[in-house]
Amino acid sequence: MSDPLPSRTGPVAAIVVAAGKGSRTGGTIPKQFVTWRGKPLVRHSVEALVQAGIAPIVVAIPQGFEAEAAQALDGLAGIKATHGGTTRQDSVRLALEALEADAPTRVLIHDAARPVLPQTVIAGLLDALDRGLAAIPVLPVVDSMIRGADHAMAEKVVREELFRVQTPQAFDYAAILAAHRAWTGKPDAGDDAQVAVAAGITVLLADGDEALRKITFAADLEEQDMTRIPRTGMG
Ligand code: CTP
Ligand code: MG
Repeated sequence: MSDPLPSRTGPVAAIVVAAGKGSRTGGTIPKQFVTWRGKPLVRHSVEALVQAGIAPIVVAIPQGFEAEAAQALDGLAGIKATHGGTTRQDSVRLALEALEADAPTRVLIHDAARPVLPQTVIAGLLDALDRGLAAIPVLPVVDSMIRGADHAMAEKVVREELFRVQTPQAFDYAAILAAHRAWTGKPDAGDDAQVAVAAGITVLLADGDEALRKITFAADLEEQDMTRIPRTGMG
């Protein structure tokens, strides 16, 4: 069965999931509220979405961090905060439900843990969405890839078929809402593309960006100054 024709026009909304605990990063507050490059981590990507003219933007926040969220998003237009759920997938579904009255035709779903969101990625995703119901940003893999088991190499895998998957992930709103409702109660999906594939939706690949890297561990919050890497043997 082929996918129905995608909605090529109409409003684009966004969801930024910021309702996690940040347990691998540690610290006293979840990573999305930590000050990074002069502002709360979550504010960086929300500002990029505002700059792209996307509205409304639903930000899923954790219970008990309403004040931190309000402060982090202070003064930004078109923001709706909503409580997230126990898993990332629950947070996305609740945010999708919160958008129903706005009736967007398309939605970008983004992790607050990826603060640097280039405008080129947003444009590439919306362009790809003209040709289908779902599009995700990916990057190629440069290292050799293997399958391993019991600390031994089992087999080499074809690197050209592998990609690193990022967010935001872009969807036809009605299609991804239906896919998430159908997935409710099943084990946590890694990302929304997997929920879409399970619903029979073809997911198109668009260009990701190294800048979109995810903050997972405390060390990821530290800035690497590339100009200070010693240059040896170069005259
Ligand atoms: N997230 C969410 N709701 C959850 C779990 C995660 O909105 N119940 C969000 C996080 O806030 C983050 C994104 O999903 O922006 C990606 O998740 P991850 O990097 O795993 O963040 P955390 O779950 O917060 O971190 P950890 O797994 O280390 O606890
Ligand atoms: Mg997590």
